[in-house]
Amino acid sequence: MKAPSPSQMFASIFAVLIFSLIAIGAPGSHKPPAPADTQSTPDEPSMVSGPGLILASVSVDLPDDAATYPDGPNVDAMNANCTACHSASMALYQPPLSSDEWHKEVEKMRNIFGAPVAEADVPAIVAYLTALSARTKAGENMSLIESTAPDDATQNAGP
Ligand code: HEC
Repeated sequence: MKAPSPSQMFASIFAVLIFSLIAIGAPGSHKPPAPADTQSTPDEPSMVSGPGLILASVSVDLPDDAATYPDGPNVDAMNANCTACHSASMALYQPPLSSDEWHKEVEKMRNIFGAPVAEADVPAIVAYLTALSARTKAGENMSLIESTAPDDATQNAGP
């Protein structure tokens, strides 16, 4: 068999090239692949409802971060000074403390954690927290009051 001449080689390479370009198709002639299933499902629905049933996604590991300080005298001092770093849960989940103990707690926030609490606001904060403890002792569950979280019925929904 005779070795192919350069022009024959060129012709066959050209033919292969044309053939592959036709096989590949014009740019844009391919449809993008269908999106994967994970992409077509909506992102993390926070609430799904059906007849007689509402399922809400709630965090089970952390204190309720939407918790706010229950209304009461001096609550403004709390909202101004004690909401920057953590939710009200930090205070609401404490056992009832005395005025002195709350004072130490507020000083700890200021001195150890660097909370920018004005000296002048400390008495109002301690008074608020002490009143909160009195309500806790009286049997109120402060962590459930004024919470903006979904109510208990939805959290406990399950089999
Ligand atoms: C500069 C940020 C900051 C501010 C502002 C702040 N805290 Fe805290 N707080 C912290 C940190 C950090 C912790 C410790 C969290 C941990 O232990 O995981 C904490 C924890 C707490 C705890 C839980 C008990 C403890 O000692 O760990 C309570 C109660 C509390 N804070 C109350 C308050 C009150 C009341 C105020 C307003 C005077 C306040 N915090 C403002 C940072 C802050």
